[in-house]
This record gives sequence, C-alpha cells and structure tokens, in this order.
Amino acid sequence: MSVNWALPFDEKILPEDKRNVVNIETYHEIHKRSINAFRDFWAGVASELEWYKPWEKVLDDSNPPFYKWFAGGELNACYLCVDRHAKTWRKNKVAILWEGEPIEKGIPKEIRKITYGELYRLVNRVAYMLKTVYGLKKGDTIGIYLPMIPELPIVMLAASRLGVVYTVVFSGFSSDSLADRMNDAEAKLVITADGGWRAGKIVPLKDIVDEALKKSPTVKNVLVVKRIGNEINMQKGRDQYFEDVLETIPINATVEPERMRSEDTLYMLYTSGTTGKPKGIIHDTGGYLTLLHGTMKWIFDIRDDDVFWCTADIGWVTGHSYIVYGPLLEGATVLMYDGSLTYPEPDRWVSIIERHGVNVFYTSPTAIRGWMKFGPEWVTKHDTSSVRLMHSVGEPINPEAFRWLYKYVGREKIPFGSTWWMTETGGILISHLPGLYLVPMKPGTNGPPILGIDADVVNENGVSQSPGERGYLVIKNPFPGNIMTLFKDPERYKQVYYSRFNGYFYAGDYAVKDKDGYIWTLGRADEVIKVAGHRLGTYELESALIQHSSVSEAAVVGVPDEVKGEVPVAFVILRQGNEPSEKLANELNLWIRQKVGPIASLKNVFFVSKLPKTRSAKIMRRVVQAVAVGKPVGDVTTLEDQASVDEVKKAYMELTKEVSK
Ligand code: WT7
Repeated sequence: MSVNWALPFDEKILPEDKRNVVNIETYHEIHKRSINAFRDFWAGVASELEWYKPWEKVLDDSNPPFYKWFAGGELNACYLCVDRHAKTWRKNKVAILWEGEPIEKGIPKEIRKITYGELYRLVNRVAYMLKTVYGLKKGDTIGIYLPMIPELPIVMLAASRLGVVYTVVFSGFSSDSLADRMNDAEAKLVITADGGWRAGKIVPLKDIVDEALKKSPTVKNVLVVKRIGNEINMQKGRDQYFEDVLETIPINATVEPERMRSEDTLYMLYTSGTTGKPKGIIHDTGGYLTLLHGTMKWIFDIRDDDVFWCTADIGWVTGHSYIVYGPLLEGATVLMYDGSLTYPEPDRWVSIIERHGVNVFYTSPTAIRGWMKFGPEWVTKHDTSSVRLMHSVGEPINPEAFRWLYKYVGREKIPFGSTWWMTETGGILISHLPGLYLVPMKPGTNGPPILGIDADVVNENGVSQSPGERGYLVIKNPFPGNIMTLFKDPERYKQVYYSRFNGYFYAGDYAVKDKDGYIWTLGRADEVIKVAGHRLGTYELESALIQHSSVSEAAVVGVPDEVKGEVPVAFVILRQGNEPSEKLANELNLWIRQKVGPIASLKNVFFVSKLPKTRSAKIMRRVVQAVAVGKPVGDVTTLEDQASVDEVKKAYMELTKEVSK
C-alpha cells in the first residue's frame, strides 16, 4: 500500500540574487549527465585537490560494497588544509576565528584569531610532539575529548598529518560512553581539557576522563589542555599538561606530512545504530576530501572574503566536515564558538554574527526553535545583513522554523536550505546548490540530489516510488565520502547499509519525492531517534536501563518535542520488590544521563507490568510509540511485523490502560 503524503508546502521562493538561476528541469538535465558519468564527474572534482601521486583508478569497485575512491592516489589532509594556504598570501589570513563563552558587559573575554601561517606552525609542533614524545605513528589511534577550543582542530590536523587515526568523542558524552569508545578504538592516548564552559558552568571534563580510564586499559597517557585553569587531579606518569609538553618542542619544528593513500583512514567517529553499542564509522581520505571540496563550493558558495560559521559541535560529523576539513580545505575563515548559543542572553548567537560579520551560516532546526521561543526582538536588535547564505542540518526542518530564520536573518531574500546527509556519508548529498545554480526554494525540503549523487525514494522492493509516495531513501551509485566500513565489523557494514535494497546504500530514512524531483526526508525509518539533531539508538537506552538493579524490562521510543524535535520516553517493567514512584523515575533518568550523557534525558518514565510483544517476542515498538504520543491505534495496525490487527489492537488497549492508571 502506498501512502500519498501531503507535503507541508508547495510554494516557491526565488532568492533575490538571480545569478545562474535555472529552472528545475534544466537542473535535472545537468544532474542526469553527472550521474551517467559519475566517475568522470567526481574525478574532475578530485583533480582540483593537490595529490602527491595521481590515482590509478577513479573507483575500484572490484569488491562491492567496499569501494575505494581514487585508488592508488596519495595525498594528506593536513597538507591540503594548512600547508597549501600557508604558502600563499593566505599565510596572514585568519583561518580560525574563535570566541569563548565568558563575556563581560557584552564584550567576550576571549577571542583568538589564528592565521594560516600560525596554524601551520601549531600543527607542525603538535604533530612533532605526538610523534617524538608519544611515539605515535601512522595507524595508531588516539581519543579526543575536548570542548570547542582551537586545540581541537589543531590536534585533529596534527594527527592527520601523521596518519594517526583519531576519534573525537563529543564532550557531552558520559564517562561510560567515553570508556566504550576508547576500548573499542584501542586508543593509546586521550587529549582532553581541565574543563569546559557551558552556560556559565564548568563541565569537569578531566574528572570524566579519570572515571572512564578506570575501564580503558589501552590508554597510557593523557594530555590536558588548560582551558579553565582550575585545580584538577593529575595522575603522575600518565597525565601531562598539553602546554607544558608543547613548550619543550622547538618553535620551528616541522614534520613532513605522511603520504596517505586515498583509501587510508582519516578518522573514525562513533554513531548509534539500531542494535548493539555505537559503531565506529571509518572515513577515508581522498573520497572524503573530494566530497567536501565540491559541497563547500556548490552548497556554501564559499569565497575568500567570507566568514563561515557552522553552529555544530566538532564532536559530531557536521563539525568534522564543515568546521574543520571543509572550510580549511577551501582556505576560508571559519568561526568557532565555544559555549551556549543563548548565554548570557538569548541573543548571543546573533551578537556573534554581528561582531564577526558572518557571511555563510549553517545551523540546525533545534537551534532555530530554541531561539524562536525568545521572540524576534532579540534578533532584530542586531545587524545580520552580512549573512548572504544559510543552511540547516540534522533533522527535518519544520516550515515555521524555516520561515522564522528566513525572515529575521535571511531578510526574506537569501538562499536557505536544509541539507541532508549523515555521519556515514561524510558530506552533504541532498541540497540545492546556490553556489552553482539557484533553483526555486521550498521551505522544508532538502532539495534535489547534488550533482554526482543518484538519490532516490524506493518502496519495500527497491522500486522507485512515484512523486508523492512515501518510501525509503537510497543512494544508487557509489559516491566519494561514503563510509568505508564499520570498525572491526565489515559484515555488519554490508548488512546495515547494502543488504536491504540489493546494492543501494540504505540511509534508514523515510522520504518522499515531489513532482519537481525535490526530496523531502521525513525522519528515521528504524529504531534510531534524533534528539536535538543527535542520533540515539533506542536499543542503547534500553540496555542502559536494564542495567539498573530495579529494572527488568524496558522499551524506549521517541515522542515529538517542540524544541528538540524528538525526545525519548521509557516504558519500564520493574523487578519484584520495587514500587513505581516519582523518585524512582527521577533516579532512572539520572542513571541514563550518567550512562549515556545528558542528551539522553528521558521526558517521561511509564511504569507498566507488561510490554506488547509479537509472537517472536519482539517489542511492538509502534504500538508503544502510539501509546506514548496518544495517537489512535488505527495508524499502527498495518505497521507491526508478525502480528495480527487484533493482537495489535489488544496490546494497544492494554498498554493505554496501564499508562493512564
Ligand atoms: C540522520 C543522520 C550529518 C548531519 C548531522 C546528522 C537526519 C540529517 C537532515 C535534514 C532531514 C536530516 C536523517 C539522517 N537528517 N539532516 N536536512 N533533513 N533529516 O548526522 O547524526 O549521522 O544523523 O539525520 O534522519 O539519517 P547523523
């Protein structure tokens, strides 16, 4: 059965800037040509980077789905992002423009401007330190647990200069999450800070690391960046201050960039899936940088006098690609802000745009909805006319949020889009391309697939859906930037992404294509929820809950939230001898926050005596979800695998009765 989805909007807005305006039919013709010759197309993009050694084959597809882009070619990410620019006039151009959270009378206490010349010195010294003091070499792994300070990109670049694989763990994750990742990655060194600032409070990062390292035996050393300057525990023989060690490195130390093969790992990043613990997504070097180069030009229209600001945290892929590698690859000035976007007042983010003259702005629906709560007067009291292009990412954008930012920052005339991609794809795959062609915008859509990407919406059997019919989002051709494999689990890589639709890359999203060929992604089709744009596996939360001594069984589902898009709620069966109470509900919430991190906060805990299950003992998730949001059962009867309509109805009634008790 196909559902005809009513699109939230079908209205077109043409930006004022009419450069290269094309109608959508023309775009599709150009797009089709790029798809028919996608190898040549991407080779053209890659040839704009500087290679030590050209590739032998554009795409080695001899062992699908283990694709190797630009096989045989050699390059280095740090060289391309730093050395290349430091050799030119950009030596004195600001590469990283950083602002910290602490502020007094409207004047930030800390602003740092690091030029490409200075960045060159810094990454060389840090690389030299990692190599000579810690003996790190190509293929070793380190962990990075830092707030949004310049040392974060500097360490990432220094590691990539050496070919040292790193994994950044978002500084909002708990000690358990950090320990799991360090163990899986077998990290030898962790780089952290003495603390971080968040809405005026100190986040005790070093304490969290100490806790995590009790369970992470592979980590032998900890480097601590002084961010706060507070007293912290330093373990002798294991921990050292970053600044102290760096001081021992000659000012002009240099390290030759390692010649990396195109398919060599640049970094690993953990993300949640439907089962098991978060998995390490492996990204290559050549394909990844090629996709970033293309998307920075076409989607962000990056220019040399731009200040580019992406409000994400580098702990997520968005920051890796569009704070660090993408902007620096293009020699841009990238703004980095470390702190809460609404501290000390709701207009902090707008004051940053004004203070630094931000030209290109990349943010998320959750951030926009958070700002909307405070009213437009916080925005309009600042001058944001420097912004000439905006995009959003992370979750579907609701038309209200789109319109709000479009009106108050976009002055109802600049291009604004919702770029679709995911940790696995490395860079944006679906977006309109204002740097190339301006096609009509529609609030809420992701736009057409970018050039060289054959994205489609298919039904259960992998057949293209007609316009307006909901289906699953797939990418039909191999593409640069895509995940190479899952760390230590190539079988699962094949199974998760390539088995469901016979060789197509399966994203895990529902989507619909409209009659103009624009794609509207509609949210996850699996057991993954997006909380404030961040990915959480409901399975992970359930596993954390059942580790609590009072819990016997748990089901976690996502429910809509006005600001965060979606938030988790839990249905819990208690072990004998435990009584439901508000106190216990709070305790379970605290437990989840400690086990996973504050982003996993539960909106609600329902104590129940039974969970609806199919005959094969699988939790009927859609029933649980329907009950959680108070949606009628009619919508879910056809959606639950292996259960009859009657069974689903009965389960729904029973569960509803329990939660309304
Ligand atoms: C999932 C990937 C890479 C960006 C940060 C998230 C959802 C992402 C959009 C968008 C609708 C979006 C999808 C996707 N998503 N961008 N513009 N419109 N949905 O990366 O944590 O790997 O999550 O985010 O559901 O599958 P991620």
